[in-house]
Amino acid sequence: MTTPAQSKPIFQPNRAFAKEARIKNMCEYNDLQQWAHEDYEGFWGHFAREKLTWSKPFTKVLDESKAPFYRWFDGGELNVSVQCIDRHLDSRKNKAAIIFEGDRGDKQIITYLELYYNVNRFANLLKNEFNVQKGDRVVIYMPMIPEAAYAMLACARIGAIHSIVFGGFSAEALKDRIEDAQAKLVITADGAYRKSKPYMLKNVVDEALSVGAASVQKVLVVQRNFEDVTWVGGRDYSYNELVVSQSPVCEPTPMQSEEPLFLLYTSGSTGKPKGVQHNSAGYILWAQMTMEWVFDVKENDTYWCTADVGWITGHTYIVYGPLAMGATTIMFEGVPTYPDAGRPWKMVEEYKINQFYTAPTAIRVLHKTGENEPAKYDLSSLKVLGTVGEPIDPPAWKWYYEAVGGSKCAIVDTYWQTETGGHVVSPLPGATPIKPACATLPLPGIIGEILDPMTGEKVGAGESGYMCITRPWPSMIRGIWGDPERFVKSYFGDVKQNGKGVYFTGDGANYDEDGYITITGRVDDVINVSGHRMGTAEVEAACKKHPNVAEVAVVGRPHDIKGESIFAYIVLKGEDTMGEEVEMVKEINKVIQKEIGNIALCDDIVFVPGLPKTRSGKIMRRILRSIAKGEAITQDISTLEDPSIVATIEKKVKG
Ligand code: PRX
Repeated sequence: MTTPAQSKPIFQPNRAFAKEARIKNMCEYNDLQQWAHEDYEGFWGHFAREKLTWSKPFTKVLDESKAPFYRWFDGGELNVSVQCIDRHLDSRKNKAAIIFEGDRGDKQIITYLELYYNVNRFANLLKNEFNVQKGDRVVIYMPMIPEAAYAMLACARIGAIHSIVFGGFSAEALKDRIEDAQAKLVITADGAYRKSKPYMLKNVVDEALSVGAASVQKVLVVQRNFEDVTWVGGRDYSYNELVVSQSPVCEPTPMQSEEPLFLLYTSGSTGKPKGVQHNSAGYILWAQMTMEWVFDVKENDTYWCTADVGWITGHTYIVYGPLAMGATTIMFEGVPTYPDAGRPWKMVEEYKINQFYTAPTAIRVLHKTGENEPAKYDLSSLKVLGTVGEPIDPPAWKWYYEAVGGSKCAIVDTYWQTETGGHVVSPLPGATPIKPACATLPLPGIIGEILDPMTGEKVGAGESGYMCITRPWPSMIRGIWGDPERFVKSYFGDVKQNGKGVYFTGDGANYDEDGYITITGRVDDVINVSGHRMGTAEVEAACKKHPNVAEVAVVGRPHDIKGESIFAYIVLKGEDTMGEEVEMVKEINKVIQKEIGNIALCDDIVFVPGLPKTRSGKIMRRILRSIAKGEAITQDISTLEDPSIVATIEKKVKG
């Protein structure tokens, strides 16, 4: 597995910025990394004591006795909402905690003191009116409004486990996630706005509950004055009506370090989505440390991450990380290109934003539709630009660096996953010389290595391998909800060192001549559409729900804006379906929309007479991937059950 070592230009950190940065140069980075290598527990114990406010100190840093079910900071107790709110009240009570900007330009500033009252009232509401107790699961199906953050923190305050489902998921997908988590309460809003147009959420919850999700007893609805909302008596309650009478003081529930904070469902290469579980202390520690190290947010800075709270980026880098460090975080309901592709830059100017964090997909769209927009605004407040979710391509990187960052901001290409809880490979803005489209080096404390999957050995410069993390770290996934075996198999089953499974991310990567890491993308059957993870198995299962679909194979295809798009090869039942194909494409996408949501729609659906299978019946996806990409077939097809099918499919795809 050899690829040529890439020589990329190097950009040194901005000197003035580096002087003030928390990690100022590579010597400091190396010292921290060396400390972690030589005294792993000492390193993490030090930061856990320094950064977190414990109601009871921990007695053990790391317990590996039941690996890979690792335990961090045993004996300790804290509450995550205290880390994010209470401990800032002395010095920051009048500081903006959250600045909300709605889709239609409406604004709201919530100070730390207001956040404290809002979260406490919400927590009391959950406890007193809905009998939510420690360990209960609460599903949050909300738009990007401050109440979504209050709901998360209110759950954390009383020890309930939240499970946010992204507002773009369908009723069916919502139902599946509620059922898997066995949630007793759903928190939602009547509706939201997108490009000034209303879209409804509560009715999706109604639909989900009408087809299943029997564990749900009550639904709490944040009302934004949308009309046409139906209410089910005895089940649905108005947050707005009930919250006002709640006390603004709620004692935080002490949580042991390893008690769960939240679940977040994500796609795997097989089967249904996995409920990734994160626990209290380790998660919040790394959320805070990475905010400080990677974004280097200072006391008077304003920080904006454009993600949605429905994804891990929104959890860690809109809510938990920024609030844990006492920063001001922007929450934006809208889309970056509305009313025009200058919207983000207008907001940067208006709020004097210092750190801006977004996905390559958004950068590509903004570049394509508003190349000259950044020049119309004063972006001089910007210090750090971040990217996340997928590999960024050099042209998008260059535009981001020059047009948005004025060639003076560091770009932190942050590589991480739902499962890692926080960044694991990323430049440090004051220290790491950066290269375009390169995640560079593991963060201090993260023992990230690219390994040969066969031998478990670290690969050399210019060689590709599997991106692994060879030691446990505090914010790592603690389990897949209700399925410990799947947890072990999914993450510790592929790469072994000395007979012991190490954490494998699912991504391929390579080192360059400087030991820098470039992530090349998933090596499993997961595709990355606009930075969103989509399991091909899930899309295939949805397609199969259409009564005319006999067989289906789904692969990713490179896409200018989305990074990858979904490409489905479908064998229909019955002989003569020619002439009905256009209609069938629409119908199948409708089924996908119903089963998963718009994020899983196929850009391409090609009807084929058969799929390339081995004699034992295994579908040769690699061949299908090559055809979708328009690449020449290099695989040996002689072993296929019917080698001629390859040419037939190629012809069909080329049209
Ligand atoms: O393939 C990697 C890609 O996104 C996957 C994780 O997706 P998810 O759990 O949804 O979390 C997304 C936000 C953290 C990874 O396995 N990925 C994430 N960041 C990068 C990336 N690929 C390349 N470069 C990145 N910076």
